[in-house]
Amino acid sequence: MSTTAPARVDATPAPTRPPAAGVPHALPVRLTAVSRRFDGRQVLHGIDLDIAAAETVAVVGPSGCGKSTLLRLVAGLDTPDAGTVSVGSRAVTDVDDRVAVVFQQARLLPWLTLAGNVALGATRRRRTDRSAGSRAEVRDLLDRVGLAGFADARPATVSGGMAQRAAIARALIARPGVLLLDEPFAALDALTRLTMQDFVGELTAALGTTVVLVTHDVDEALRLADRVAVLGPAGSGACDVVDLPARDGTREPRDSGDPGTAATLAPLRRTLLRHAGLVA
Ligand SMILES: Nc1ncnc2c1ncn2[C@@H]1O[C@H](COP(=O)(O)OP(=O)(O)O)[C@@H](O)[C@H]1O
Ligand SMILES: [Mg+2]
Repeated sequence: MSTTAPARVDATPAPTRPPAAGVPHALPVRLTAVSRRFDGRQVLHGIDLDIAAAETVAVVGPSGCGKSTLLRLVAGLDTPDAGTVSVGSRAVTDVDDRVAVVFQQARLLPWLTLAGNVALGATRRRRTDRSAGSRAEVRDLLDRVGLAGFADARPATVSGGMAQRAAIARALIARPGVLLLDEPFAALDALTRLTMQDFVGELTAALGTTVVLVTHDVDEALRLADRVAVLGPAGSGACDVVDLPARDGTREPRDSGDPGTAATLAPLRRTLLRHAGLVA
């Protein structure tokens, strides 16, 4: 953990910016009858899930039910035993540039600066575009994620929230059509988590990418998602989708501090908690 982390940086909401030039169109994600077992134990069983381009879908469910497994299948880091996963019009067969993943830990390379870490995200793009990951592009993204002035900082000298912002910038510089987030805020303190939720919601709204957010936090799902997929216990095959209220064409985070929004979300919150087995 950092001793020099300026708390002020995490407390400042990220500015809303216009879309970056050259961001590709968001891509839809489709899981059809997807099953995955490990060591003879069924984890995912016949899961169907359709995610529209530019939609934000949260995936919730009990620990061990297969949320990360589902995300790894979409990322091409794993393959299903049965069923198909597609991104855009292509079946997922391997890791590719169209999909980027952010995990719970930032996983930055400690010997590189934040700028160096972000530039790494452009490695694949650079094969066809030599200017990909240029200093100017990296600085623009660092600016977008509220890290202007920290390009030359080493990961060990910044806070967990700042490192996670750099990890998100590293994912976005790949210009993914789909951004996968696996409990990206779980390791952060409560206040930083709220700021990061706003920041990710605003940034993905501005960039227009499809987002799949795995979270164990029902309130996080209610703030950021268009729909919530609730997985049942491992092997159950249950995947219930709960629609959340439309946001007048925007994807800005819902303001749960607003009494009207809170009143609208209250019954949905109960539904989600009931699905998750947390209330009767
Ligand atoms: N590569 C693997 N090898 C063996 N078991 C695995 C592997 N990946 C996941 N599992 C098992 O699958 C189950 C679901 O894991 P995971 O998808 O990580 O759950 P969640 O993210 O919902 O908590 C767990 O019991 C886990 O131990
Ligand atoms: Mg997990």
